[in-house]
Amino acid sequence: MSSYPIINKMVPTFYFIGVTTGKSSINKVFPLWMEVLGRPEVVLEGIDHKIHDEPEAYRATVAQIKHDPNSLGALVTTHKLDIFTAAEDMFDHFDPYAQVTREMSSISKRNGRLEGHAKDPITAGLSLDHIIGDSYFGNTGGHILCLGAGGSGLATLLHLINKANKVDRPDKFIAVNRSPGRLDHMRDMANKYETDIQIEYVVNSDPRKNDELMAQLPEGSIVINATGMGKDTPGSPVTDEGQFPKNGIAWEFNYRGELDFMHQALRQVESRNLRVEDGWVYFVHGWSQVVGQVLDIEITPELFKRLDETAVSTRS
Ligand SMILES: NC(=O)c1ccc[n+]([C@@H]2O[C@H](COP(=O)([O-])OP(=O)(O)OC[C@H]3O[C@@H](n4cnc5c(N)ncnc54)[C@H](OP(=O)(O)O)[C@@H]3O)[C@@H](O)[C@H]2O)c1
Repeated sequence: MSSYPIINKMVPTFYFIGVTTGKSSINKVFPLWMEVLGRPEVVLEGIDHKIHDEPEAYRATVAQIKHDPNSLGALVTTHKLDIFTAAEDMFDHFDPYAQVTREMSSISKRNGRLEGHAKDPITAGLSLDHIIGDSYFGNTGGHILCLGAGGSGLATLLHLINKANKVDRPDKFIAVNRSPGRLDHMRDMANKYETDIQIEYVVNSDPRKNDELMAQLPEGSIVINATGMGKDTPGSPVTDEGQFPKNGIAWEFNYRGELDFMHQALRQVESRNLRVEDGWVYFVHGWSQVVGQVLDIEITPELFKRLDETAVSTRS
């Protein structure tokens, strides 16, 4: 029994918990994916919470999923930490990443149990693997400069720490963040593992300092824009004068918006022999992993390819 009002949904419903869910590309993609997955009866419904909403509001959302049989589960953005904190006791199971990070991006049900998963280390990892393949760091000796140490920067670091082969781990991971709190959190998480990756934590929001950090990177290094600048906020974390690493990779985590960082990098493709990637693959991995979790469907590489092709067909 729930102490919150529960709506008995007439059709199987997959929730998208965010802030401005109506604006996301997933609204176009989702019905097409359900056709591909043979579940055309499942509908997507957005639930918008204000940032740092009241705990009771988060608990009401979780109760709806927990107690209504036709509410299948949810993908969570923005509120991953807050939902965990507000509703931890309502869940029967958390995966190890959710336990370590105390956040969840997926809510699902299995055999009457309510489960929370932190999929970001998996999806950030699948996206990075897609971009660099095997043995990248062994072959190049490159480092990672991660501008922004929020959820996605942390997820990328955890993925690398958990790589079994030395050739798939960089010697150095430099995390830069505007406020020290996120770096402290990253340090706490990283300290829960034994790793040979040398992790540097830099408090900074001055793009010229980031240019200096870029200039010190060895060839083949990867520079990530995980600050949200160029989409969530204007600008770029580096200046137009910043030099990307030779033979390296610039990875912008977003795929829509002004994408200033990506355009700066694109101007150096030839002069620095630079590869430039956006966040599209990350978007598709992020959603497909949670959809697979909620609908209990294994997302094989073949299925991922079909979902990606379907999603690409909606890109304007
Ligand atoms: N393509 C995809 O599917 C996908 C998936 C995941 C993330 N993303 C995108 O990646 C971005 C980051 O996501 P997230 O979940 O990691 O967000 P987040 O948790 O809000 O982290 C962003 C971090 O960047 C820091 N920051 C902002 N401006 C900065 C600056 N000028 N210099 C240094 N640090 C700065 C923030 O610092 P403070 O602590 O000071 O606020 C914050 O810690 C978002 O734009 C998101 O949309 C895309």
